[in-house]
Amino acid sequence: MAVDVLLGLQWGDEGKGKIVDFLAERYDLVCRFQGGPNAGHTIKIGDEKFVLHTIPSGIFREDIINVIGNGVVMDPITMVREITTLEKAGIQVRHNLRVSRKAHLIIPTHRYLDAASESAKGVEKIGSTLKGIGPAYMDKTGRNGLRTGDIFLSDFEARYQALKQKHLGLIRMYPEIQFDLAQQEEAFFESVDFIRRLRYINSEYFINEAITNGKTILAEGAQGSMLDIDFGTYPYVTSSNTITAGACIGLGIAPRHIREVIGVAKAYCTRVGSGPFPTELHDETGEKIRAIGKEFGATTGRPRRCGWLDIPQLLYTIMLNGVTQLCITKLDVLDSFEEIQVATQYRTGGEVTADVPYDMHLADINPVYTAMKGWNTSLDSYTEFAAMPDATREYISKLQTLLGTRISMVSTGPERHKLFLL
Ligand code: GDP
Ligand code: IMO
Ligand code: MG
Repeated sequence: MAVDVLLGLQWGDEGKGKIVDFLAERYDLVCRFQGGPNAGHTIKIGDEKFVLHTIPSGIFREDIINVIGNGVVMDPITMVREITTLEKAGIQVRHNLRVSRKAHLIIPTHRYLDAASESAKGVEKIGSTLKGIGPAYMDKTGRNGLRTGDIFLSDFEARYQALKQKHLGLIRMYPEIQFDLAQQEEAFFESVDFIRRLRYINSEYFINEAITNGKTILAEGAQGSMLDIDFGTYPYVTSSNTITAGACIGLGIAPRHIREVIGVAKAYCTRVGSGPFPTELHDETGEKIRAIGKEFGATTGRPRRCGWLDIPQLLYTIMLNGVTQLCITKLDVLDSFEEIQVATQYRTGGEVTADVPYDMHLADINPVYTAMKGWNTSLDSYTEFAAMPDATREYISKLQTLLGTRISMVSTGPERHKLFLL
């Protein structure tokens, strides 16, 4: 048992990148198992801020191998941009990065299709990041996709053209949108030339050999469990399995190798894009959280919707993931509240329940809140959790009781040192 999984328990952006970066030095390998450039994982090191989309968040630690697993979808264009930015900042990316030959490729027409399909949906749109994620996973399950290993085949370009033609046929079914395909294709082929120089592996063998040799692995989730294709707020979800089980599929590891499951949740709740969000605040409190928490998308810059913590939602995702320990992030964002609300149950259709309904989108959910005393003081100068205000420790202790799961970490700022191990 050498694999720990770290993933988001809400609608993404829980602060996974920061925590993976912090924990990475305890592991030999950090591996991304799903998602693609829809992810934006922010890491702050000193005064510098980095946003990773496809590259695992262990890349800033020397001597740790970072693997892009088979479950990831990779866009060569984004990948080159990411590598170039990091290398300019002096990070040794290519030395420590390995890419699964079985990871699927995002080609320009995947993004074109994503944009055409979203535009046609109008108000019903998913709020996709428009990175081509849905169409790329559709091609994967539809058995039409191209994989990174294919870029070395002599007929790669012919395969690319065949897939592109299929896409153009589909795009014709949608109302026309603006998309500069010629320019995107030029960038794509230049990027493919660049990424041919990365190190490709049969990652399932690579990872299992590492396990056999006693190495430790941190599997890094992208998005959040409420965006899971099976268990999220369908259809307002992403197109991959974001839960623990996705780590087995997306890396080729057996469930018995999984040891700890570290669930990351903010001390409140956010969502970017469309879809149900029971505890969303449409008032100045929501705006205050957004402003203090700087809640704007790391990938798209869109304002994130904000609301109070939702216990039924978290109990659901703790169950789905088999979470063994929790990390609560962004506690400092609640520093200036007299009172903090926490939803403990839902009132829906005349009954009170702690279950997430079949269709959160259609159900009329009214959260039942419990008020908790705020600490109303800055946590900035604290160097020990035990020294923090009573109300802060009581908030964490109450969450631990409500969630029935140990809280092992608390984060009070984007920087590495603002993490408290409990
Ligand atoms: P991820 O997608 O889960 O990695 O999260 P994002 O990077 O998209 O969003 C989290 C944001 O919160 C980033 O800007 C982080 O730098 C920042 N962040 C992480 N932890 C904390 C924290 O404890 N407090 C504050 N104020 N910001 C944090
Ligand atoms: P990280 O890893 C937050 C959301 C989008 C949209 C829906 C579908 O940074 O936590 P997609 O592009 O996947 O087709 O979009 O999912 N979404 C995210 N929201 N954080 C993310 O990743 C997200 N990745 C996708 O906003 O609502
Ligand atoms: Mg993010």
